[in-house]
Amino acid sequence: MDESSAQTSLLNDEKGTVLCKSEYPTISESRQLTWTKRFKRFIRLRLYDLCQVLEMLSLLIQEKILRKTLAVHNSQQALLTPISEMDRDLLAIYIRWNGHHVEKTVRYQREPNSTRGQEPAGLLRYALDEWYRRKFPRRAFICWAEENLGDFNKWIETGKPQVHPEKELPVYCQESPVWEVLQNRVSTRFWHPVPVEDDKLSQVLKAATYAPTACNRQAWKLYVQRNRELDCNSMVSGVGNLILRKKAPVVIYITIDKRLYPEIWAPAEDAGIMGLQLSLAATSLGLGGCLMYGAENFDQDAFQMEFNVPAYQFMYLMYMFGYPAERTLTAKRAHPDDIVITV
Ligand SMILES: Cc1cc2nc3c(=O)[nH]c(=O)nc-3n(C[C@H](O)[C@H](O)[C@H](O)COP(=O)(O)O)c2cc1C
Repeated sequence: MDESSAQTSLLNDEKGTVLCKSEYPTISESRQLTWTKRFKRFIRLRLYDLCQVLEMLSLLIQEKILRKTLAVHNSQQALLTPISEMDRDLLAIYIRWNGHHVEKTVRYQREPNSTRGQEPAGLLRYALDEWYRRKFPRRAFICWAEENLGDFNKWIETGKPQVHPEKELPVYCQESPVWEVLQNRVSTRFWHPVPVEDDKLSQVLKAATYAPTACNRQAWKLYVQRNRELDCNSMVSGVGNLILRKKAPVVIYITIDKRLYPEIWAPAEDAGIMGLQLSLAATSLGLGGCLMYGAENFDQDAFQMEFNVPAYQFMYLMYMFGYPAERTLTAKRAHPDDIVITV
């Protein structure tokens, strides 16, 4: 985005709405406003009011009647595509997506006769077979997906969570080479029941402030919650989002003050980049954690009440971390040749 144009375009009208500069005259110009221009401006503002109401109505219908957002509905339509009709990119995404679900499933204690995880594991098998049938290259993430299915079979046999030993995790410190840290950042959903030291937490939070933001707004607030009851951190605790938030030694809620963002996506992008910054900083200090989606899946009202958060701060993303007690498989990455298009 052109930063200078974004800066000059930010003006508030008397209602606090952010508007484009081009829509607003300077003081000297305003004296010369014709009635037609005033009328046009009035109509534009009323049309914005109308859009606001329609948007609220649409959200209300999605939330209360359909009980599913439009975005979820649309993404589910893509999932209905038969595997045999998926193009290579969609198939690869589908494999990684189901692989992720299997990866999470096998980290639970298996209930006897439970059918949990059967569906993603079955779909993953089909998708992998389709990949081989079409003779697509055997990328690292294909082997990773197979390993996850191997874990799944062991999980069905034993009922025990398939968690890989954290000893395979390289030990990092502040002097660790950046490249190695980048390559080894990985989601961790089990932690040793020990607190993160204050100075390590401070270092992670300091690194957070180096994250870039659109137009240098740095509109984040990080709500840091420390868990005092670390004993619920056992291997049988599972990896559901609720339990993760409860058992993680530290949870950071990344909020963005949305008041000065006329762009639709920039606040989410700023929050996402902050999430990565936190996770890389934590990895570089021998810690490990997991990002977690917030936004519309998150009870913003309850969060605002609980932590006294102003309504204009939107909670996009969480990062929860501690000392890793597992090593998730890392070879899940897409191959550069499959994602890079030289233009
Ligand atoms: C925006 C975002 C939201 C995520 N939300 C969740 C979540 O709600 N629950 C969860 O267990 N993991 C979540 N993750 C972690 C991803 O599942 C994980 O990054 C992915 O499986 C790739 O694994 P890796 O982090 O080990 O590379 C999220 C990651 C990102 C980037």
